[in-house]
Amino acid sequence: METKDNNLISLQGLEVYYRIGGGIFSEAKTVKAVDGVTLDIRRGETLGLVGESGCGKSTLGKAILRLTEPTGGKVFYNGKDLAHLPKAAMRDQRKDLQMIFQDPYASLNPRMTVGQIISEPIKTFGLANGGLDERVQELMETVGLSRRFIKRYPHEFSGGQRQRIGIARALAVDPKFIVADEPISALDVSIQAQIMNLLERLQAEKDLTYLFISHDLRAVRHLSDRVAVMYLGKIVELAPGKDIYADPLMPYTQALISAVPVPDPEIEATRERIILKGDVPSPINPPAGCRFHTRCPYAIEACKTTVPKLVEIKPSHFAACIRINDENPDVDANAQAGLGDIQK
Ligand SMILES: Nc1ncnc2c1ncn2[C@@H]1O[C@H](COP(=O)(O)OP(=O)(O)O)[C@@H](O)[C@H]1O
Ligand SMILES: [Mg+2]
Repeated sequence: METKDNNLISLQGLEVYYRIGGGIFSEAKTVKAVDGVTLDIRRGETLGLVGESGCGKSTLGKAILRLTEPTGGKVFYNGKDLAHLPKAAMRDQRKDLQMIFQDPYASLNPRMTVGQIISEPIKTFGLANGGLDERVQELMETVGLSRRFIKRYPHEFSGGQRQRIGIARALAVDPKFIVADEPISALDVSIQAQIMNLLERLQAEKDLTYLFISHDLRAVRHLSDRVAVMYLGKIVELAPGKDIYADPLMPYTQALISAVPVPDPEIEATRERIILKGDVPSPINPPAGCRFHTRCPYAIEACKTTVPKLVEIKPSHFAACIRINDENPDVDANAQAGLGDIQK
């Protein structure tokens, strides 16, 4: 149903800083895992969140659910700021907000049967009207597991089936919003499509809104209505899925996309690949200015000092780069000297 507010979730300047160290031999350091993210997630959409390992995707997803505590900013859900709700009130809210994890085995208690795993949240939220087993078996059927398996343990299932158990557990409380954190990354390629199809079907049947986290751009492309690209704790580009692939504006996004193999061998043979120099810098001491400047082939002096804002460059297409409107963003002399490389 369309309401006045189209957004289910609104993040405003969300920050998650982790304090690490601070023992006898080491000084305490701050990891800026999520650093000022302002982002809306619309009702009923799948928002894809992509970026290299360590850029803060999982932390962002967990912070929305308060599975990790935000250290700054706001998380609006239905007009309420979850980031500042008292703990008990947040526990009640969590019925609406669920998470599916990358490694279904690690996230399922090995000593509990499937029935116990799926019924736990139903009991926690007092949702078992009538038969608990019946409700659990319905959920199992919904995610494509046989009702007969209700007394089995996680180790008796395949990876794909375990992910189905994790999905059933998330669905057990009738959530509105699901953070799916790399839900297919640990699965065999042959199983990945099945789980993606399941997630798509469930979204349509149950009016779900997804934040779909992945470093696999193909998966994100398949599922997402819009895609947000994250780099070192910040969102650097945001656009409808088709636009981000057809017309990526940020050199970082271009590099991520150019790293995805194309199934057509002819296109694959000639496709332009952008190789970024070096690794992602540490989020403990992120580069000043634009965080990407140390790897960007187009970086100029100003990029070292100016923090670029995420601005709308084309309708619904946002990017954070001070050079984006330059007519011909020449590859800077600095860059040619070794900051980055563009290969044909
Ligand atoms: N509990 C934690 N304590 C300290 N640092 C953490 C913790 N969780 C994640 N980090 C750090 O925060 C950064 C972002 O991590 P994460 O959100 O897991 O990234 P991603 O999911 O994109 O791989 C990384 O540098 C990671 O090492
Ligand atoms: Mg992660």
